[in-house]
This record gives sequence, structure tokens and C-alpha cells, in this order.
Amino acid sequence: MTTTPTTPADGLTRRRLLGTAGTAAVAGAAALAPVAPASATTPGRTASRDRRVEQLLRRMTRQEKIGQLRLANTVESAEEALTTTGLGGIFSVVGARAINAIQRKAVEGTRLGIPLIVGLDVIHGYTTNFPIPLGQAAAFDADVAADDARVSAAEARRSGIHWTFAPMMDVCHEPRWGRIAEGNGEDPYLTTVLAAVKTKAYQGSSLASATSVAACAKHLAAYGAPEGGRDYNTVDVSIQRLHNLYLPPFKAAVEAGAATVMTSFNTIAGVPAHGNADLVRGVLKDRYRFEGFVVSDYTGVQELIPHGQAADGRDAAREGIRAGVDMEMTSTTYVENAAALLASGAITQRQLDDAVRRILRVKLDLGLFEEPYVDEAGEVTAPTAATRRSARSAAARSLVLLRNEGDVLPIPRTGRIAVIGPLATATYDLNGTWAGLGTGASTTPPTTVLAAIEALATGTVVHEPGCDVSGRGTGGIDAAVAAARAADVAVLVLGEDATMSGEAAARSDIGLPGVQQRLAEAVAEAQPSTVAVLVNGRPLTLTALAAAVPAILEAWAPGLEGGRAIADAVFGATNPGGKLPVSFPRSVGQVPLYYNHENTGRPYDPDNKFTSKYLDVEDGPLYPFGHGLSYTTFEVSDVRLSRATMSRRGGSVSVSAVVRNTGRVAGDEVVQLYVRDPVASIVQPVRRLRGFERVRLEPGVRRRVTFELTPGDVGFYDGDARWRVERGEIEVYVGTSSQAPLAGSFTVR
Ligand code: GLC
Repeated sequence: MTTTPTTPADGLTRRRLLGTAGTAAVAGAAALAPVAPASATTPGRTASRDRRVEQLLRRMTRQEKIGQLRLANTVESAEEALTTTGLGGIFSVVGARAINAIQRKAVEGTRLGIPLIVGLDVIHGYTTNFPIPLGQAAAFDADVAADDARVSAAEARRSGIHWTFAPMMDVCHEPRWGRIAEGNGEDPYLTTVLAAVKTKAYQGSSLASATSVAACAKHLAAYGAPEGGRDYNTVDVSIQRLHNLYLPPFKAAVEAGAATVMTSFNTIAGVPAHGNADLVRGVLKDRYRFEGFVVSDYTGVQELIPHGQAADGRDAAREGIRAGVDMEMTSTTYVENAAALLASGAITQRQLDDAVRRILRVKLDLGLFEEPYVDEAGEVTAPTAATRRSARSAAARSLVLLRNEGDVLPIPRTGRIAVIGPLATATYDLNGTWAGLGTGASTTPPTTVLAAIEALATGTVVHEPGCDVSGRGTGGIDAAVAAARAADVAVLVLGEDATMSGEAAARSDIGLPGVQQRLAEAVAEAQPSTVAVLVNGRPLTLTALAAAVPAILEAWAPGLEGGRAIADAVFGATNPGGKLPVSFPRSVGQVPLYYNHENTGRPYDPDNKFTSKYLDVEDGPLYPFGHGLSYTTFEVSDVRLSRATMSRRGGSVSVSAVVRNTGRVAGDEVVQLYVRDPVASIVQPVRRLRGFERVRLEPGVRRRVTFELTPGDVGFYDGDARWRVERGEIEVYVGTSSQAPLAGSFTVR
């Protein structure tokens, strides 16, 4: 499917975000995209809902209102809150029976019986685990993300969960950051497409549906840009980069009807997100017209104290409420201080009512007043054949063939196969970070890569771990080498365990952990037909591995059915067609390294010393954004542009190209469209992804794919957060990675 977000941008800003207010530099048709959220409610139902909200608000006491702002994370704290401060919701409580029990205390044990909203981190699965979101992004296929969301939402809602803290949409140029695993990579366009698709798929046609959950666009904002890649660390980005790189997915999620948004732990230009009124009220609620509610990330409100924006809990509560953070997760500064803040005028009744109004809206849209309880008999306690098929397909489509010298892959099923490496027998590590917390998830181990290979092989399969994932011990390498030498082919299964990416899991060195590289070199020396399969949650520096082995298959943390998907690909039952959603650097010293970079005044020139480069490493990534090979070959040709000009005020230019399978087996190719504005008032990245389409072609077959470019695809936000579409040339690049060649250009008039 061709994908071009239709959210060009707005040109008018009612409040400044870290810049000067002002009207659009260039109005144009793209000036103010329709921002009214395409929420899961229709106008008629919205009016009825809003009437119910106002009626309820009028009946609520001040304390009952304040209580709605609290989100507790244990049954004990929830029970205590219901009899003291009041409570709006719970999270991280799993099990239909336990959820019904606490819900009954809210509905039947309080004066107004306002039901609790029940949240959980359903990031890439509830009971059925899909690949980590970074792997899903590698599929370059929005249906993969949608399938995860639909399956996860149905499993979660049937088990009593109303609200997931997903999709995470933090664009990230920092592979040292553990949470790069949880997002969709370094590109705002790909992340935007997937953010909108996933939001809609979680929420379905109605939030009240038995298979829908409220989505949560997180983490607002720029959480993926921590200095040094260290989680929770300082973020200091320019206004233009904030709006061009980090905010577009949130705008798209709001337009897709996201019911909730979560603020991020970090500062932006010195102001913590949880106390950042320009960001939360100014951009999200005013500019994007977000109508749902904002929840803090864990103790993010209370963390305004160590951040240095608040002296104590009272200050923190004041800053959070003023900023527009409606519900406080885990910490209790709101319920402890809101009454006094109201009495002193530090916060207003309007601010309190607005927060409660937003929360009640979502609860009503979820149908919680009509159906507060979950049918315990319907609780999902195990995957089904159908959800396993969906997870296996997602894992297969997320695989990226990084290297395949001599077409060593796929390997024959016959003969003697040595499966070597510490992750060959991994089970739950295949689920990666933020694995499903659902009932049944922890009692359903994924099939190991070894078992999956054994199931498909027709010859002999032997296994040697060789080493641990991160230990220094080398005692197992000799046995691994002997097994490889005696085999016809060796399959290395290497990478990271699930704890080495995700929250609070930054790595200063992103090479293969422990002595895995040493194992790989020893095995490959003994067995030339050696292939490496990687299970990991981030880009790794693979320069040494690529020098040692002829073939590398990137599998990410592939989820419940990942072992089987890997075996299918290794034997050629499937043909990998994924692409990298993040650049793989040659060395961690190159980081940050990303495709959508500025050209600089002295771009790298191998013939000129005084250009931007390192003395001790080759220029650019080992594997660039958009890279991915196949067991067949493809050719992209005959690029055509429908027009030579585009009006700033509207209109479009179609870009089409023919892609042909020039090899001997069927396969998938992802045709990618990039643009570049070579001269602009704010220098623009050398490439910006603006379209992708994954096509499956039989040998010899060709297809023409077509993309539509509009002013929204070529404009950008300037240093005052104003949307601009400027006159001048736009270069067009079409190909199969971010290194696609120049294919033509048109002029914006
Ligand atoms: C964590 C994460 C956030 C998650 C929340 C609830 O700290 O930052 O993404 O949704 O707490 O578990």
C-alpha cells in the first residue's frame, strides 16, 4: 500500500512552543490540516456523551473530582485510595477476577460509582507476543503493526484491560538508548504512519467494543533523544527539529483519534515535559486540538522535584496541572495538594474540571458506565492457532537479510547442521523487552530457534551454546568449533537477551555482548558455510561479524513465533523482505548516525581531508536505513514524475517507478521514495522518506508503484514552529534503501 500521511501541518500557532508566536510564514492549502480528532465517536454520540459528562461533573464534589486524577499501580493502593482520596484508574493489575474485584469496590462502594479505567503496558502483545515494535517497523508494512494492535486489543479487553500504554512513537537517532527497541526507528514518516495505524487498530471502530482498547501516544516528547543515549537524560533539541522530527507521530495519533497521551520523563530545552505547558497545553491540546486526557509517565510529576522545576510535591502538582497533565500515575502529589492549590488560587477550578472532563469522556467512550465488569469466562489465557499465525507472519515480515555473500542462505534442510550460540535455545528472550504481561504470556514460552530448525531439518542437527550471552567464559568455544567443523553448515544464533534493551537499558558499547564475536570468528574459521542470526533490541555494530561470516539475518526480538519464522527463512520456506528502520553504525563512536541528516558545509569527500569524517572509521553506516537484501534480486527503473511543478497552495506530483524481480525465486521488495529540498531557509535533511510500498513479485514479474507527493510532503517547520512550504526545486530519490539514486526533480511554485 502506498502511504503518504495526510497531515501536512498547521501554519498557525496560537501559542508559542519555545519560540515566537506568529502567523504562518506561508499559508497555503497545507496551512491548517484538519486536526479534529477522528476519534472513535461520531458527532451525535459525542454530543450525548458530553452532556453526560457535564451532568456528572455537576454532581461531583471537589474531592471526587480530585480523586479522578489518580492512577494507582497496585490493588492495595487502589483499595486505600477508594476509601480516602478517590481513584480514577488502576494499571499493572492483571487477571479478570482481580480487576472485577477492585472495579466492584469503585462502582458499588463509592457515592457516584464512577468506574475505574484499567491500564496496562500492552506494547507488542498481551498473551500472544509479536516482534518488538522496532522489528515491526522493519517490515515496512503497516498491516503488521495493525495486526499486532488488533490481536493485542482483543486479548487485553477480553481480559479486563481497557487501556494500553501504546503505541510508543519516540523517533530515535540513539542506538545506545535501550528504548529504541520500543519505537519504530529513526524516521518520522515511518513512525508517523505506524503511529496512526496502530492507534486506529487498538481503538477499532468504537472504544466500547469488546475488542478495543484506548490507545496512548507516548512519550510526549523527544524522549528518544537523550544525551549519551542514557535513559531519562537531558534532551535539548531545536524547535524546528522538535516539530519536524519528534512531534509528527503525535499529531498523526491525535488525528487518528488517540484517546490518551503520556508525557515523557525528559526535559526539552530545560523544561521537563511533565511541567511543560507550551508542549502539553500549547501544542497538544491547543494546536493539535487533542480532546482525550494526558497521563503522566509513572512518577513523572513527582520527578519535577529532582529535575529542579519544583521544590516539593505541592509545587510539582501545581506545575503538572498547569501544564495540562490530567492524570497522575503512581505518585500522589495531585490528591495530596490539589485542594490546597485550588483554595490558594494556584490552580483554577477550570483546570481541574478540564482534567476530569477529559478522563470522564474516555471512560464514557469506553462504555465503562454501561459495562464496568469483564466476563471472567472470556479471559484470554493462551494464544490461539490464529493469533500464532498472525505473530509468525509478523515475525517473518520483520526479518532483514543484512548480508548474504555467496548466497549461503538459505541452507539445505539435509546434511549436518550445527546450531551454535547462546540464543539458539532462548525462549522468553525472543519476546524482547516489554513482553506481554497478559494472562498466559508467562506460561507460553516461545519455540526456540533450535527446536524450530530441528522440526524442519531432514538431516542431523547438533547444538553447542559456545558461550553465554554476556559472560566472559570461553570454555565452550572449542566444542562449538568442533561441532561446526564436523557439520555441513553452521547457524550462529547471537545477540542480546531481553534485559539488554528497553527501559533503563542503555549500552555504551553496542557490539555483540560478551565473547560472542570471538565465538563467531572461531566457528566461521572452522566452517566457511556459517550464517549468523541476530536476536537483539537495537542496532548493533557488526563490522567484525560481517568480516567473519558471509551471511547475517537480523531477526530483532521476534516474539512468540519468532523461532519458527527464523527457521522458515533459514531454510528458504520464506524469503526475508524487511528493511532497516534504523541505521547500523560501523562503530559506536559514530553515534548519533542517521540517514536524515543535514549535509553540513563540508560533506564527506574522500579526496578532501577537510571534510566531515573520522580518521579511524569508514564514512557512513555499515548498513543504512532502508537496507535489506533478499534471496532474489530486484531492479527499480523507469521513474516518472507526473508534473514538473507543484503549487505551494495545493496540488500534487505523482512519482511512479517500475520494480521487477530479476532473480529466480519470489520475493518482496520495499520501494522507497525520498525527497530533498536542496535550498531552504532551514537547511533540510539530505533525504526524507515520503513513501514506501512493499510488493511481492514472482520471478520476472514487474509492477509499477505510484506515490503522491503534496505540499505537506515537502514543507517543514521553521525555528518558530511555523509551517513553511517554500518555492524552489525538490529532488526525488526512488530505490530500495536510503541510498536510492536521484530520480528526478520538480519545482514548487
Ligand atoms: C514506565 C514507562 C512507560 C510505561 C509506564 C507504566 O516507566 O516509561 O512507558 O507505560 O512506566 O508502566
